[in-house]
Amino acid sequence: MDAISCIKTRRSVRRYTEEVITKEQFEQIVDSARYSPSWKNTQTIRYMLVTDRTLIDRIKDEALLGFEGNIKSLASTSSLVVLTQVNGRCGYERDGSFSTSKGTGWEMFDAGIAAQTFCLSAHEAGFGTCILGIFDDAKVGEILEVPEGQTVTCLIPMGRPKFVPDPVPRKEVADLVSYK
Ligand SMILES: Cc1cc2nc3c(=O)[nH]c(=O)nc-3n(C[C@H](O)[C@H](O)[C@H](O)COP(=O)(O)O)c2cc1C
Repeated sequence: MDAISCIKTRRSVRRYTEEVITKEQFEQIVDSARYSPSWKNTQTIRYMLVTDRTLIDRIKDEALLGFEGNIKSLASTSSLVVLTQVNGRCGYERDGSFSTSKGTGWEMFDAGIAAQTFCLSAHEAGFGTCILGIFDDAKVGEILEVPEGQTVTCLIPMGRPKFVPDPVPRKEVADLVSYK
């Protein structure tokens, strides 16, 4: 699939077949995602694959802030990818001070690039994904025993799509651009 087709045909997929992603398939996708650009090439994003049903159910029941849409997505998936961020490096100088006025903002910037690159690579491999932002990151970290010094940035349930959703509306280019 060429890059433009991959970008334009990716959808947020929220219902999956029961097929569990293998470690080999997961690592092939991460192999592409690791080429994401990052702050001073700090490469602070980590990718955890959770296939243990008990752990997925605990996150579903305890860490989704009661958001029904995400509860249904986790009930449907057999493969939950959890992106974490190594804290305190992206956006920082070596002496621990912030490099810019955006402070910690660059951490989520890098996480977003990595998440999209992961989702596009997964799409190219025939897997559907959905980036989830509505969850309790501390609770997910506790359930998964995420190493100290890392923060959960997003959840990405994935799997073979049960069906491919229709595209959602996009603003027109003219509404997005400006020139000076
Ligand atoms: C940072 C971020 C957080 C999101 N959080 C959620 C979420 O919690 N639950 C959900 O179902 N979709 C979530 N989405 C998916 C968006 O709703 C989706 O990308 C948007 O509606 C466009 O649809 P598309 O991805 O199919 O093009 C999130 C997307 C992003 C980028």
